[in-house]
Amino acid sequence: MSNHSDLERDLAAQIAGAADLDQLDQLRVAALGKAGVISALLRSLGQMSAEARKTEGPQINGLRDRIGAAIAARKAELEEAALEAELAAGALDLSLPAPPRRKGQVHPTLQVMDEMIAIFAEMGFGVAEGPDIEDDFHNFTALNFPPRHPAREMHDTFFLKPGPDGERRLLRTHTSPIQVRVMRRANVAVGAPQFAVFQDPPIRIVGPGRVYRCDSDATHTPMFHQMEGLVIDRDIHMGHLKWTLDAFCRRFFEAENVVTRFRPHHFPFTEPSAEMDVQCDRSAAQIKIGEGSDWLEILGGGMVHPNILRTCGLDPDEWQGFAFGMGVDRLAALKYGMPDLRDSFTADVRWLTHYGFSAFADPNPASGLS
Ligand code: DAH
Repeated sequence: MSNHSDLERDLAAQIAGAADLDQLDQLRVAALGKAGVISALLRSLGQMSAEARKTEGPQINGLRDRIGAAIAARKAELEEAALEAELAAGALDLSLPAPPRRKGQVHPTLQVMDEMIAIFAEMGFGVAEGPDIEDDFHNFTALNFPPRHPAREMHDTFFLKPGPDGERRLLRTHTSPIQVRVMRRANVAVGAPQFAVFQDPPIRIVGPGRVYRCDSDATHTPMFHQMEGLVIDRDIHMGHLKWTLDAFCRRFFEAENVVTRFRPHHFPFTEPSAEMDVQCDRSAAQIKIGEGSDWLEILGGGMVHPNILRTCGLDPDEWQGFAFGMGVDRLAALKYGMPDLRDSFTADVRWLTHYGFSAFADPNPASGLS
């Protein structure tokens, strides 16, 4: 019995004196491990008489429990001391912010496209899309470009090999072919549920997408984005077009005092046709909308030409409409002050970090634009 209390005193002193967790663990193994002294004592119970086991059993078990508890207590002490030392050494500063996580950014062109769709959605427009690879018919012929008319070449078209039908294929030079596809209800991908099945007029859609022209300088890139607009209904006139575009501009530039003007222009697919300018101040590096005495062209539009309505199977005496097309990248550059359009397409992460938007800033009519 006395050798147990000697052993206990001995072990307790060693445990209390353990300098670190490694040393403590060695002591644990030596006492309680498979070949440990206390484990040997526990095993010896098996060889004892029932009488001896009655007195020895509780003592040896008690010894095991107390030594186990002493080891656990010392372990907690050592761990706390180690943490204190680490904190004192300044190795771990819990007040530092967590390292930043790289997060993706929404490209301004797509953000602006969403803003535009949100604004037009408020006015009851649905969304329709068409293919990037178009045929001559939808891109030109159906839009009233006469055969061999120089306007076809004016667009600096990227032509592709003819399709199986012999029809010349091309990368669409504008989003206007979406109009034709919508009116003819031909192969349009449709976004808004109310247009899931294309019905007869009235039609009210915007058609966003990529367009391609063989052209490149500070304000032109070979691929850019446009948004088409088309309204077909009864008794539609230029006044509706002007109101719609004015309302759009005020909402888009988030300024009540936006001044616009319509200049007569020519497009084969509208009659009359106009270009719309916004008044702005271009005296400083950054263009300011809603002040100044300069004008900047932002879109083309007009009344849908009767020939197009006829080509699309609509009777011009019954149905009229207006159409417009705007440059999305250009509107993004204007709104967010980007000096060179080409930067939009260089995939430079620094540029995107500066001009990009959070994926959580999803513009919608209820929560605001951005
Ligand atoms: N498609 C024209 C362009 O690319 C823009 C345009 C002008 C679209 C007038 C229209 C329109 O729908 O009516 O320059």
